[in-house]
Amino acid sequence: MRVPRIIGHRGAAQAAPENTLEGLREAKRQGAAWVEVDAKLTADNHVILLHDDLLDRTTSGQGAAAQFTLEQIRALDAGSWLAPAFAGVRVPTLEEAVHELIALGLNCNVEIKPCPGREQLTAEFVMRELQRLWPAQAEKPLISSFAYASLEVAHRLAPEFPRAVLVEEVPADWQALCGGVGGVVLNPWHKTLTPEWTKAVKKAGYQVISYTVNETARARELFDWGVDAVFSDVPGQLLKDLGA
Ligand code: G3P
Ligand code: MG
Repeated sequence: MRVPRIIGHRGAAQAAPENTLEGLREAKRQGAAWVEVDAKLTADNHVILLHDDLLDRTTSGQGAAAQFTLEQIRALDAGSWLAPAFAGVRVPTLEEAVHELIALGLNCNVEIKPCPGREQLTAEFVMRELQRLWPAQAEKPLISSFAYASLEVAHRLAPEFPRAVLVEEVPADWQALCGGVGGVVLNPWHKTLTPEWTKAVKKAGYQVISYTVNETARARELFDWGVDAVFSDVPGQLLKDLGA
């Protein structure tokens, strides 16, 4: 699996509402070839793109997303919170997002972001949807999660999709964690990453993709250490500054 150096985070989260179809289109406009999105389940087990457990920050709704049906979540406005120009933007299903990604010619990293207690179920639905929808010939999306139980399910049900282990800080047993789910990528938070950890992970044959990097100078430093790619809310800016 080859990933580009700059991956649009939640689409292109600074310029367009995160985890929306508009965000995917904005990432494409900015020149990104890959985007990252967060996937979770509604109360009636539809996979949607949403980052938080709560609806409050990024929609006109309130309360836990896991308590609402797809129909209820679809009625919400997921754009106005960022800017009035995005009024009426909806929370997309993973299915809609996949169709949009294919139409745009983008690949993606699907981060499984389960609501508490739904780690295995969420992974099951996400992977079944991707197996059903992703074109057989196309390069497969990268599947990641902070929830190890979700990665175990992804590994078991859909081993053909490459996997990444998300961590806030590289743990001493990182290699066992990657190995346990057949992972090929480690996703550490850039603020805790060090040149030494980067070197060790790379030396063991894994890719390092770090989140979330919006400053050009920091991205340059991470690439100098050997980091393979970064997630960014401003992919166009980094692509331009780095000539990537
Ligand atoms: O997958 C990279 C990054 O998205 C992980 O953190 O909280 O932005 O989903 P978060
Ligand atoms: Mg994410």
